[in-house]
Amino acid sequence: MRKPFVAGNWKMHTDSQTSVNLAVSIVSGSREVAGRSVAVAVIPPFVYLQAVVRALSTSHIAVGAQDIYIERQGAFTGEISASMLKDVGCTYVLCGHSERRQVIGESDELVNKKVAAAISGGLLPILCVGELLDEREGGRTAEVVGRQIKSCLAGLSAEKLSAATIAYEPVWAIGTGLTATPQQAQEVHALIRKLIEEMYDSESGEEVRILYGGSAKPSNAAELMRQEDVDGLLVGGASLNADDFVTIIKAAV
Ligand code: 13P
Repeated sequence: MRKPFVAGNWKMHTDSQTSVNLAVSIVSGSREVAGRSVAVAVIPPFVYLQAVVRALSTSHIAVGAQDIYIERQGAFTGEISASMLKDVGCTYVLCGHSERRQVIGESDELVNKKVAAAISGGLLPILCVGELLDEREGGRTAEVVGRQIKSCLAGLSAEKLSAATIAYEPVWAIGTGLTATPQQAQEVHALIRKLIEEMYDSESGEEVRILYGGSAKPSNAAELMRQEDVDGLLVGGASLNADDFVTIIKAAV
């Protein structure tokens, strides 16, 4: 049985006060379910990680980082290592979010190294994949997502894979208000699970958690979660509003 998982990616939002306020409000709204019937994580900007970890210390809500660097330490100005993220209390880390692929230019090869570095450093990576609008319209979704999964998991053993979560985030649905239909999401999630089975084994395919992300909100969360292969949601905009995020958490139970 895969436990549902809801994560809120705060992207480059909040400040020192509002990040803590948001965390505290999410805890109080989701106390009965968070960490019990549904795993929950928030993913604030690096600079507020410690404050948010502190604010969540008596809760069952985990904290994740939005990115990681592939080396352990050294002369890599501006970068943050797995051990630093562990040190401040992170459990999860996003790898290959589409905004980093699109805006910063991260390649599948780099994302592959990030996933490996996260796992070696004791973090749980959330590997993000998803196609662009023209790729979907050109009927290339399966090819693009398949290539991303294969490249980004290259060289990873089944044991290591068990630390990873996959997030399917169609780029055309991110921050656009356009959500993949539950059927579209299910179709790609099933495809990813089948691919994992082929790359590893049936147990790995059965156990890997696959989240949907892209304009997930209170009004569509339950329907998305009803799909057989949708194990949770990676929420952007709606995770910045405590009431909305709590409603989504409850819809995932
Ligand atoms: P939105 O929910 O704002 O579309 O963002 C999704 C996302 O990118 C989460 O990582």
